[in-house]
Order: sequence, then structure tokens, then C-alpha cells
Amino acid sequence: MTKSILVTGATGFIGTRLVENLLHKNHMVTSLVRKEKSAHPDSKTVVGDINNKIDFGDIQYDCVYHLASHTPLEKKKKILYKVNLEGTKKLFESVKENTKSILYVSGLGVYGDVGGKAVDETWPYNPDTEFVKIRLEAQEYLEKSSKEIGIKFAVAHFGDVYGAGGWFQNFLVQRLLKNTFRMPKGGEYYKGFVHVEDAVGSLITMLEKNLLEEKYIVVDSLPTTFRDFVNYTADMIGIKHPGNVPVFLAKAVLGGDLIKLLTTSMKPSNKKISEHYEFKFPSYKEGILNTITELRQKKFLK
Ligand SMILES: NC(=O)c1ccc[n+]([C@@H]2O[C@H](COP(=O)([O-])OP(=O)(O)OC[C@H]3O[C@@H](n4cnc5c(N)ncnc54)[C@H](OP(=O)(O)O)[C@@H]3O)[C@@H](O)[C@H]2O)c1
Repeated sequence: MTKSILVTGATGFIGTRLVENLLHKNHMVTSLVRKEKSAHPDSKTVVGDINNKIDFGDIQYDCVYHLASHTPLEKKKKILYKVNLEGTKKLFESVKENTKSILYVSGLGVYGDVGGKAVDETWPYNPDTEFVKIRLEAQEYLEKSSKEIGIKFAVAHFGDVYGAGGWFQNFLVQRLLKNTFRMPKGGEYYKGFVHVEDAVGSLITMLEKNLLEEKYIVVDSLPTTFRDFVNYTADMIGIKHPGNVPVFLAKAVLGGDLIKLLTTSMKPSNKKISEHYEFKFPSYKEGILNTITELRQKKFLK
């Protein structure tokens, strides 16, 4: 059944694919964008910044996918606070009369340092970085405010989302090609990864199967060390494995929060979402192969 959807962050790495795939499935999509021209041509467009009041008129949405945010690459706490927390609160005020449900997209940092253990949705939240504390405060605000007025609320906790674009292309592959990529702690920590097609597929499944009052971890079926993920990517490109960098140096360049998020070891489980969604790329091996092929087709790689 066709649904009416609002996507915030519609121009981002994940949002772009989400809009495309929702349109492909014949849903009615509105993109919230800051620059009109950046929206998908087949989606409706609302131009606005989540930090300002946005007028959605009379239009009614079945669901708002809230993806607009700054990433942990942003080191200024003030900006993270303004956009990721205050912006989320403002967005809620703007859209609360216009939607039946809100699906908030977050990460796995909410579980904090679990010492390499297997983690599922029953684990308590225990954020240990400023970035994640702010994001969790936004999540809890949205959840409480939504429930108070009868709006359904769901959360997807994504692992590291890779694919053509985003950090995988612009940070990892680009630096591997220039031989400037280095791994803190030798990449010896487990992480959950998910191909962007599966990240988006899970979000659409949550909508279509009416799983809009739940919390899901969204990762593939094979948690792996960061080192194995990176080295496999290098193998698929046909270049040598990268070296390591001391943690203090990595922190000086990228910031303590980002390095903590990056090097926390965890084996997240996709058991709950897998009961509803079949992954196209159950392990990073198929997903990286597909991504490298896509990057070659786009002439980003030889
Ligand atoms: N990528 C990952 O590995 C990953 C993992 C876990 C969770 N997530 C979460 O998934 C969501 C999407 O991630 P992504 O990788 O697609 O991020 P992204 O590529 O950095 O995109 C961010 C989006 O947010 C928009 N935005 C930023 N500030 C805004 C504002 N003040 N008002 C309106 N829009 C604003 C940007 O719009 P402009 O184009 O106008 O700048 C852009 O569309 C984020 O919430 C992120 O935390 C991502």
C-alpha cells in the first residue's frame, strides 16, 4: 500500500538511497532539503532547515524518517548540540500535527564500550561520547514527545553503513588509493557493518510491516574486525594493506570522540530485524564486492 513519507537528510549518503528506493516502491515521498535543486526530481520538496520552523501545510505523512544530522566528524559540540538536539526538537514542533509516526535513525554508539561482547536490542544504553549522548537525548525527547500525543515512534540503530558514497568512498577508498589510510589499534576491534541497500531496505520494511513502535539494530550477519574489513577492501581494489597509527596521533587528527566510536569493539546481532527483512548482503564480503563494482562502473576506480 502506498504511504506518504517525509525524509529529512534526503540529500545525504543514506537519505538519497532511501528516497530513490521509496519512490521505486511507489510511495509518495517528500524530501526535506536545504537547497531546492538538491532534491530527487521525482519527490515532492519542502525547503527548510531543521533549526527553523518549517511549514508542512496540510499534508499528512504516514511516517517521518529523521536522518538529518551532523556526523561524528563534526568536532564542535555547539554545532552538534544545535543541529542534532535542538534541530530535532524544532523539527518535532514543525511536524507533530502532520505525521502518524516517526522513525529515528541512530548508531550503535548508544551501547557504549561493551568490551567486544555480542549485543542485541535488550542491552541498556550506556553512551560514553559527547556525540552519542547528544543523539540519545534527541532520541529520548522524540520518543517521549511522540508518545504523549499518540505518534508512533521507532528507532533504527545502524552499524557502519558502507556503499558507493559516504565515508566508505570518500574516506576509506580515497585514502587507501593515496596510501594515507592508517588504522588505530591495528584495526583489532569488532564492528557491525551494513551495506547501504540493506540499511535502507530495513527502514522500508519497518514502514511496510508496520514495525513503527520498535527498536532495531541494523547490521549484517557477520560482525568482523575493522582490520579484516579494511584489508578485504584493499584486496578487492588490488592495493596493499594499510599500516597502523598510534591512538594518540589518530585522536589529535580526528578527535577523541570519533576514535572512541571507531575503536569500540562490539559484535552486534541482527536477529531481530532478520525476522522481518532478508539481507541482500549478509556479509561485508558480498557487499564490498558489489560496492567496488559500482565504483568501477562510476569510473571512481579503475
Ligand atoms: N553513515 C553511517 O555509517 C551511519 C551510521 C549510523 C547512523 N547514521 C545516521 O544516519 C543518518 C544519515 O547519515 P548519512 O551518512 O546519510 O549522513 P550525511 O551524508 O552526512 O547526510 C546528512 C544529511 O543531513 C542534512 N542536514 C544536516 N544539517 C541539517 C539541517 N540543519 N537542516 C536540514 N538538514 C540538515 C544534510 O543536508 P545538506 O545536504 O543540506 O547538508 C544531509 O542531507 C544520520 O543521522 C547518521 O547519524 C549513519
